[in-house]
Amino acid sequence: MSVGIDEISFYTSNYFLDLQQLAEVRDIDVDKYYKGIGQEKMGMPAPDEDIVTMAANAAYPLIERVGAESVSTVMFATETGIDQSKSAGVYVHRLLGLSANCRVVELKQACYSATAAIQMACALVARQPEKRVLVIASDVARYDLDTPGEATQGCGAVAMLITANPRLVEIDPEVGNYTEDVMDFWRPNYRSTALVDGKYSTKIYLKSLKQAWEHFCTASSLAFNDFQHFCYHLPFTRMAQKAHKHLAKLNQSELSPEMLDLQVEDTLLYNRIIGNSYTASMYIGLVSLLENCKQNLEGKRVGFFSYGSGCVAEFFSGRVVAGYEQYLHSARHQAMLAARNAVSYEEYLRLYNEVEPTDGGVHERRRESTGRFRLASISHHKREYVAC
Ligand code: HMG
Repeated sequence: MSVGIDEISFYTSNYFLDLQQLAEVRDIDVDKYYKGIGQEKMGMPAPDEDIVTMAANAAYPLIERVGAESVSTVMFATETGIDQSKSAGVYVHRLLGLSANCRVVELKQACYSATAAIQMACALVARQPEKRVLVIASDVARYDLDTPGEATQGCGAVAMLITANPRLVEIDPEVGNYTEDVMDFWRPNYRSTALVDGKYSTKIYLKSLKQAWEHFCTASSLAFNDFQHFCYHLPFTRMAQKAHKHLAKLNQSELSPEMLDLQVEDTLLYNRIIGNSYTASMYIGLVSLLENCKQNLEGKRVGFFSYGSGCVAEFFSGRVVAGYEQYLHSARHQAMLAARNAVSYEEYLRLYNEVEPTDGGVHERRRESTGRFRLASISHHKREYVAC
């Protein structure tokens, strides 16, 4: 019996800022963004959306297909927590109408935790193959204004059903892990934006890739040349291209730079116009690969490198299942991306500066988001979510 990803769907906000606008205001050559970091647009949430609404919007199409009763566990990965105590997944559980007998939990380790969720979900399904586990990753990437990280902001959520005999990607049990206590990127409880040592973070990312890959090689018989495609954690698309060249060099690969680019190219398309979505980022990269690769991916091996600052990293492998194309949500995803609205720099500042009330009063949020679920108010310290 194989275990893996049976369905995958993502959601991102209706709003984006074209980095051309940011480049003009910051007096930076736009090619630093378009080419240097490989980003074109950055998504940002409307005031009436957050990790819960994005997550529910990502997951709803899966639940519509498989039915609410069939999900036994929800694992919610995020580093944009809205509560220190209650899991964001419990709100999503209600919005999706899941069974009262379904367990729900939230996981955190920077951008890595969705991968931990997937591995735990695979273990649960291996033990009880009739169960379906819903893994959701949802985040808003925020940095201080006028910092190097600013242009890499973004937001998004991805929802995946983990089942036995999956219809999209079988996940192999062998993994390579690497953990080290480092301060490359972190967000203390009193801050709404991340602190980051940008250059250092890129070095630690590459070091973790080497270490996780070497550990993977002790567990798996697969070698670099057995993989046709690679999905990397995507803080910005150039990071994946650099990482892939780094891994190729470590393995003395004889593939040309063009061939190496082709092995990651299709995973980058959505991230380039959404931005970093932390926990969701690598898995939106997987959707991008499955939906945009011109060749049939049936039977192809995909290498995954998941990285979360702080840091925890994991390399694992998967294989695309025959007939996967029938189960994608490509048309809906592409329509959602095409319907987004560009905002001006002033509008970006308005969205950026939107603050969460702390006074316990009644604060309604007017409708600006376009998804099915929205945050209607924050009143008496309680978040009220509704379906539209
Ligand atoms: P920076 O330091 O301002 O950029 O920001 P730079 O000066 O290094 O330039 C970037 C690239 O653009 C360079 O190319 C330049 O040459 C090029 P490279 O040397 O890298 O090949 N460039 C140009 N290219 C064409 N035309 C031009 C031009 N000008 C310059 N005119 C930095 C870069 C990564 C520091 C910044 O974006 C940042 O701080 N980002 C946030 C942190 C981050 O994303 N780190 C990545 C690894 S950590 C991670 O992935 C985890 C994370 O997702 C969080 C989590 O786990 O929760 C972040």
